[in-house]
Amino acid sequence: MSPRSAIVLAGGLGTRLRPLTEERPKQMLPIVDRPMIEHVVAKLAAEGVADVVLSLGYRPDAFGAAYPSGRCGGAGLRYATEPEPLGTAGAVLFAARRAATGNGEAGGDPFAETFWALNGDVLTDAPLGELLALHQARGAEATILTIPMADASRYGLVESDASGRVSQFVEKPASGGAASGWINAGVYVLEPSVLARIPPGRSVSMERETFVEVARRGSLYALRSDAYWIDAGTPASYLQANIDLVSGRRAITLGAVSPQAGVAPDAEILDSVVMERATVEAGARLSGSVVLPGGRIGAGAVVADSVVGYDAVVGPGARVLGFTLLGDGVTVAAGESLQGGRR
Ligand code: GDD
Ligand code: MG
Repeated sequence: MSPRSAIVLAGGLGTRLRPLTEERPKQMLPIVDRPMIEHVVAKLAAEGVADVVLSLGYRPDAFGAAYPSGRCGGAGLRYATEPEPLGTAGAVLFAARRAATGNGEAGGDPFAETFWALNGDVLTDAPLGELLALHQARGAEATILTIPMADASRYGLVESDASGRVSQFVEKPASGGAASGWINAGVYVLEPSVLARIPPGRSVSMERETFVEVARRGSLYALRSDAYWIDAGTPASYLQANIDLVSGRRAITLGAVSPQAGVAPDAEILDSVVMERATVEAGARLSGSVVLPGGRIGAGAVVADSVVGYDAVVGPGARVLGFTLLGDGVTVAAGESLQGGRR
């Protein structure tokens, strides 16, 4: 049996993507043609998940507004909004308890059996069925997806043996050392017994507390995969997550220019995404960039490795380069030059 229920963590502040996350949570930012959360939920739905509880904190209303029918990415959505941030494990416990008591549906507690838990900013083509199979074969309490990473310093570093048993889990190992290896991909299969290990009523980190304890007991396992995986939570990785979906690096490839965008015939668009209502005028050049809905790129402007926010305007002949993030409605004057930074 594969799990029917999942908890997706989407309550973070999205600090690294400000100013784009000032008006909306990170998971509502679009990746090519739909919000990040829809890509995440669709991956679970493809695995047989019917019921997803979104664990929310920051700007929770954005989700209800976007999915008034309670359906998203092929699954039913419910929401568990924390009164205050509870950390990654505290949030999972809170969401599981809320779903058990608050749904008014028949059928009891969906988290009294094996379930999925995911970080809500992870896009992957990894084989979730293999993760589940390893979990079941080992009788694990928790099994996590891991992927290889040259610099693990902004991730959780996972050491496991040939059977997959995790001997050590180190969250955000100090950079400088030899921190390359298999990292926590933020995709978990969990037994309900894990919930019992999470102290209620306070902020608890899955990575720094719960997994460390489960590993110590010898019941944390890891699947190694080198499938496509990205955490879309930084400016560079948000750009990359978009570009990868239009340039053939994923299991599916989407169109780079929305049918509802207006692009001049002689504009040049290379490894970039132009979303609905956006316009790119004559002679403009885009590379490695994302133009969010309603963004406007003036004639002859150059935009490289940057994000142009909702309804933002890059004036004619302007240059926006080097991982610049333009917020909603921002204007870059004609001929102005920006190199990195946020506005
Ligand atoms: N509900 C809730 N409450 N959600 C939270 C909270 C909270 O207090 N804190 C973070 N989140 C959500 C975020 O919205 C995100 O979807 C997910 O939890 C992970 O938080 P991030 O802030 O994105 O963590 P990270 O990327 O630095 O590190 C995590 O992900 C890496 C892989 O992408 C860790 O799990 C690492 O071990 C892992 O390698
Ligand atoms: Mg993240």
